[in-house]
Amino acid sequence: MNNFEKDVFEGLSASKKSLKSKYFYDDIGSRIFQEIMEMPEYYLTNCEFEIFQKQSEEIFNTLNFQSHFNLIELGAGDGLKTAELIRYLTANKISFTYTPIDISQEANELLSAKLKLEFPELKISPKTGDYFEILKDMQNDDTPSLLLFIGSNIGNYLTNEAAALFDLFNQSMKAGDKLLIGVDLKKDPNIIHQAYFDPHGITKRFNINLLTRINRELGGNFNENNFDFEINYDPTTGEVKSYLKSLVQQKIEIKKIELEVEFKEGETIWTELSKKYDLSELKTLLQNAGFKTLQHFTDSRKYFSDSVFEKI
Ligand code: AVJ
Repeated sequence: MNNFEKDVFEGLSASKKSLKSKYFYDDIGSRIFQEIMEMPEYYLTNCEFEIFQKQSEEIFNTLNFQSHFNLIELGAGDGLKTAELIRYLTANKISFTYTPIDISQEANELLSAKLKLEFPELKISPKTGDYFEILKDMQNDDTPSLLLFIGSNIGNYLTNEAAALFDLFNQSMKAGDKLLIGVDLKKDPNIIHQAYFDPHGITKRFNINLLTRINRELGGNFNENNFDFEINYDPTTGEVKSYLKSLVQQKIEIKKIELEVEFKEGETIWTELSKKYDLSELKTLLQNAGFKTLQHFTDSRKYFSDSVFEKI
């Protein structure tokens, strides 16, 4: 069994059913995610764009880099927000090499082509593959580095998983290297609810697409109409949890992994965690992983933060 097959098997055999959100992003899912980012209710993208658009100079000054540096980005995607930082750096003749890291070769090629059009002089060295393999390879390089992990991607990790991830980042960094993390902040629950339970049904489609993917790739027989979508936000933990809910009692068969799954009416599959932070919680988490907080850059509404840390 490959990882997808194994994870689907385990997730749907458990007494509390779940599926991993990383499997949302097949070609169709990636396109639906683009639609999500264009919705006015999904404030995260606009907030982070505003931060890079208005505060790139301050962000760069906080890094205190005096010479050529590496700008390394994990999961660069369409690079829309990073392009704002790149615009500032190139306009001010600051010397750096941009290294986007992504598991998708296609995403990397699209991004490089787009950036080369706008910034013909840009030194860009895309890497395709597993984050940590690539980060490990770069360890011997003595150029100062800024590691970018933006877009609230950290929100998909449970607190202990996030801590483990920051430990891994730390192991692949040199003292004095910087880490910039984009986190969504706790705020009025109604605003968060609108972003994840949108009135257009796009986020529902994003979730249902995972069942369609299982049907197509694993020979499942999910009827998409027999599932609904719901979310729950807990303002104390900051956790948004997304679920698919069976509307009827039903039995599903997934041929390729030889699995039969029974659903009670109303039974849920947990599909995603999108955790919201407060800044003190973030600071503590990074401190425990060996990082000092340098500065939090928030948007004008204080919905989102791009926070900069230094490896000590
Ligand atoms: C890509 C993980 C940041 O959790 O906000 C958007 C994905 N899920 N709407 C998020 C997502 C539902 C998104 N991240």
